[in-house]
Amino acid sequence: MAKESTSKRAYPWTTTIKNGQVTLRLMSPQDGKTMLAFTQSLPEEDLVFLTVDITQPGIVERWANSLQSERMKVVVAEVNGQVVAYGSLTRNEPFWTRHLGEIQIMIVPEYRGRGLGHILANEVHALAQDSGLQKIIARMAADQRSAVQVFETMGFRVEALLADYVMDRAGKTHDLIVMSYDVTGLTE
Ligand SMILES: CC(C)(COP(=O)(O)OP(=O)(O)OC[C@H]1O[C@@H](n2cnc3c(N)ncnc32)[C@H](O)[C@@H]1OP(=O)(O)O)[C@@H](O)C(=O)NCCC(=O)NCCS
Repeated sequence: MAKESTSKRAYPWTTTIKNGQVTLRLMSPQDGKTMLAFTQSLPEEDLVFLTVDITQPGIVERWANSLQSERMKVVVAEVNGQVVAYGSLTRNEPFWTRHLGEIQIMIVPEYRGRGLGHILANEVHALAQDSGLQKIIARMAADQRSAVQVFETMGFRVEALLADYVMDRAGKTHDLIVMSYDVTGLTE
């Protein structure tokens, strides 16, 4: 991620990716239905590992409403008014980890490998800086090898491997990898 991605962002804005353009904007509490259409369009293999089951209408509504609390910020990428990806930053609640934020990125398959993951990670990084956070955490199942590789390419480092820490939708457990990125150069 670009260390220089500082100033507060003005949304919406349009940017170029490989073979196209996307418009980035902040998700609002009114976006529940829009996000449900997005999550329900994702292929089954992308839904194996979900921290929150964002395919359920009630859960997506609660997810959207939680934007009011400022605990979470979400940048969505749209093409012709349809959401094709999002990047979220969720602040850690416990007092002693209040300097941490968690990043999650989800992109529809046809928009992967076109630079959008990198763009969204930069947006989340800028939001983390604006919020005064010091470290961004990414958690994924060890089986999500290409996602781990992509996050490494973006400057994240593996910090921990937790055995059988996540359970997929079918009830099978998997190891969890915790990756991190220092927003403020904390450990440099
Ligand atoms: C993981 C994910 C967010 C990556 O987004 P993306 O748009 O495909 O990534 P980008 O095209 O921006 O690529 C980012 C970097 O990773 C590299 N990369 C892309 N796909 C890769 C792959 N399969 N293996 C290794 N490196 C890869 C790119 O070359 C790029 O490196 P560069 O900046 O040095 O050129 C996306 O594939 C996705 O939504 N996956 C499903 C959800 C998921 O697993 N999320 C991660 C957990 S939060």
